[in-house]
Amino acid sequence: MINGEKTVETPIRWAMIGGGRGSQIGYIHRSSAVRDHSFALLAGAFDLDPGRGKEFGISIGVDPDRCYADYRTLFAEEARREDGIEAVSIATPNSTHYEMTKAALEAGLHVICEKPLCFKTEEAEELAKIADEMGLVVGVMYGYSGHQMIEQARQMVARGDLGEIRLINMQFAHGAYHTAIEKENPAVKWRMDPRLAGPSCVIADVGTHPLFLAEAILQDFEIEQLLCSRKSFVEDRVLEDNAFILMNLKGGAQATLWASAINCGSLHGQKIRIIGSKASIEWLDEQPNQLAYEIEGEPARVLERGAAYLYPEALVEDRISAGHPEGLFDAWSNLYRRFAIAMNQSKKGEKTDFWFPDIRAGVQGVKWVEKCVESADKGAVWIEY
Ligand code: NAI
Repeated sequence: MINGEKTVETPIRWAMIGGGRGSQIGYIHRSSAVRDHSFALLAGAFDLDPGRGKEFGISIGVDPDRCYADYRTLFAEEARREDGIEAVSIATPNSTHYEMTKAALEAGLHVICEKPLCFKTEEAEELAKIADEMGLVVGVMYGYSGHQMIEQARQMVARGDLGEIRLINMQFAHGAYHTAIEKENPAVKWRMDPRLAGPSCVIADVGTHPLFLAEAILQDFEIEQLLCSRKSFVEDRVLEDNAFILMNLKGGAQATLWASAINCGSLHGQKIRIIGSKASIEWLDEQPNQLAYEIEGEPARVLERGAAYLYPEALVEDRISAGHPEGLFDAWSNLYRRFAIAMNQSKKGEKTDFWFPDIRAGVQGVKWVEKCVESADKGAVWIEY
């Protein structure tokens, strides 16, 4: 079980490119990176607009002198400092990933890059070569693959629990772009523009997520042939908003992947089902704590995150044990946010005008337990409160 202790002696000195105010993914990077004190956010070029980026950096506690106008200045200025950054996360639109990753590696920095890494295999291979030569780590943020139940699935396949793997059925099919919302939403606009998104919309934007889940779960996953049909259903779109992909895998298994942004009514619809000769497993990202385990001829089982019966490799990264919903981290963060605002207002002599579980909530809990015990000890009788 992870107790949030440091996994590295000193937190990695870290910066972000992109992920500024209003971005979809910036906060998720920051809150995930700093949670276990493994990374310290010291610098950044957070926004396409330098002024907005600096203001945002300052607002999240970064030294104003280390909020840079662009990533090239970030790398150059940080290289001059004795305490300069060692790693950078890139959370900008897809078209920038190649040049930023390359420049970061050439500046001697480890990189965490958003997906897709870049647009062309030769560019990706080039980045891999530079990283190998420089001895630098490049992580690609296929974020769902870090879930404990994906490790459990990997261990089940490796141990033969499913038998011989025959079929892999993947999808990431949401409905959020079922109309031309790119006309108003800047984060969707670039996703539909080949100059910024690359040669694909949904295949790259969402399809690559379950593809990597399959790669993570099946250690010998290797595509031999592939067939893809893609289409744009919303008028005037250049890039596809729906795609079906069929794959023949080495060893004889077959895989399908459905990537869509027009699956009306679906929030994410990310799923992976692995079918073997004895049993199947299935995982949905919207209910990530459960892994369905269905053995042919037996009642279906649901494996729960954190449960003691999971394989040890899956339990190593358990954080909050079974039963506690993962949303607890968000709920606790909201309370810490309110505690902080209340403490700050108290320092300034201001009155707090919002609720949080305060001392009166504590008193009420204590009194309630006391009264319950009193009632029970008197033989389960009515007592005055
Ligand atoms: P967004 O459009 O919401 O935010 C992009 C941010 O990057 C903005 O703050 C913008 O000002 C900044 N930016 C753009 N160009 C920049 C530059 N040259 N220098 C500095 N900052 C720059 O985009 P979103 O949705 O956050 O996506 C960013 C990346 O994250 C994309 O590659 C996307 O595919 C990926 N993504 C990954 C997810 C995952 O689950 N791993 C989920 C959502 C997005």
